[in-house]
Amino acid sequence: MSAIFKPSANFLARFSLAAVGIVLGGSLLVLWGYWRTPYAQGLQEEIVQPVFFDHRHHVVDDLVDCRYCHFNAERGASAGIPSTEMCLNCHSQIWNKSPKLEPVRRSYFTGTPIEWNRVHQLPDFAYFNHSIHVNKGIGCVTCHGRIDQMAAVTKVNSLQMSWCLECHRNPAPNLRPRDQITSMTWQPPSDPAAARLLAAELTKSYDVHSRTSCTTCHR
Ligand code: HEC
Ligand code: HEC
Ligand code: HEC
Ligand code: HEC
Ligand code: HEC
Repeated sequence: MSAIFKPSANFLARFSLAAVGIVLGGSLLVLWGYWRTPYAQGLQEEIVQPVFFDHRHHVVDDLVDCRYCHFNAERGASAGIPSTEMCLNCHSQIWNKSPKLEPVRRSYFTGTPIEWNRVHQLPDFAYFNHSIHVNKGIGCVTCHGRIDQMAAVTKVNSLQMSWCLECHRNPAPNLRPRDQITSMTWQPPSDPAAARLLAAELTKSYDVHSRTSCTTCHR
């Protein structure tokens, strides 16, 4: 009985299997590569807001602390977005004729909150809490970047698990004195020995631990 497949068919079959493998593997690699790009992670992506609120006008020279508007950051899980009433604390007096503030006045007089679009948003299965970070000496700028220089807030860190874990494994170098939490310009001492000493002191006085168990963030 003659063979149904010639030896060359055998070769062809192997060749095409290998080719399929290469193509599949290749596309997975491309996907993986894409997932790691700033684009896929939504970094630097500008989100259009109902009011053109510009942090550069509002956090000049430490005139207004972040916590004036995001006052919940120190006390609760979320930092919170300020209410319309908060805007009018200042804008009933200043720039009260500005057309850019028309949606704010409308919101105030109709009693409908401004619908800000979220820039940072973790999936529901990941637990995050602002107050613990703020009280253990992690500054806003470490996670959110130079908000004081952004016309529109964009995400500068991926917020992916690997990013959280990188700090959770060894938080010490990211600690700062609590009175510098909202400073956008504070830097650790430039001398490495002094920086290590400060990191060690803060770790001790704020009782900071490495937290990497799954239940820290998945509860
Ligand atoms: C005068 C009030 C005010 C002050 C002061 C202020 N913010 Fe905001 N912030 C807002 C408003 C309103 C929004 C929502 C609109 C937007 O995203 O730009 C916002 C949005 C943000 C967001 C993005 C929220 C999201 O959707 O993920 C971050 C992060 C943030 N602020 C950080 C800061 C930091 C850090 C400071 C201090 C350096 C600060 N803010 C000071 C009013 C303020
Ligand atoms: C350890 C990193 C980290 C630090 C420090 C941090 N944030 Fe955030 N911030 C986040 C994450 C992550 C989210 C998204 C939370 C979510 O989706 O539940 C967020 C969300 C926000 C939001 C959107 C509204 C909300 O509450 O979810 C604002 C406003 C904000 N941060 C402001 C601040 C300010 C102001 C500070 C400093 C006082 C600060 N953040 C410090 C990581 C951080
Ligand atoms: C602590 C006082 C204060 C608060 C609170 C405040 N603002 Fe302002 N805002 C200012 C000042 C001061 C300016 C003008 C800054 C400049 O021209 O450099 C301004 C400018 C603006 C402008 C630009 C106006 C124009 O015509 O160019 C907009 C829009 C604005 N604010 C929106 C808001 C919104 C929305 C809120 C509430 C989330 C808010 N502001 C809360 C002080 C404040
Ligand atoms: C730059 C450093 C840093 C980053 C980034 C960071 N964390 Fe943390 N986180 C800390 C520190 C420091 C603590 C306090 C640990 C301690 O001593 O209990 C903490 C504590 C926590 C706690 C409370 C743990 C407990 O047992 O009470 C949760 C939940 C948490 N982080 C979630 C997250 C998530 C989710 C992310 C990423 C979206 C994140 N963190 C990113 C530094 C960081
Ligand atoms: C410091 C906080 C933190 C710790 C600790 C942590 N995770 Fe996560 N994890 C996250 C965050 C934040 C996300 C969402 C990431 C995103 O949106 O891409 C996530 C996502 C995930 C996902 C969804 C797939 C993915 O990668 O996006 C799985 C599965 C997961 N975590 C499992 C674990 C397991 C298992 C452990 C323990 C070994 C663990 N996590 C520890 C913060 C944490």
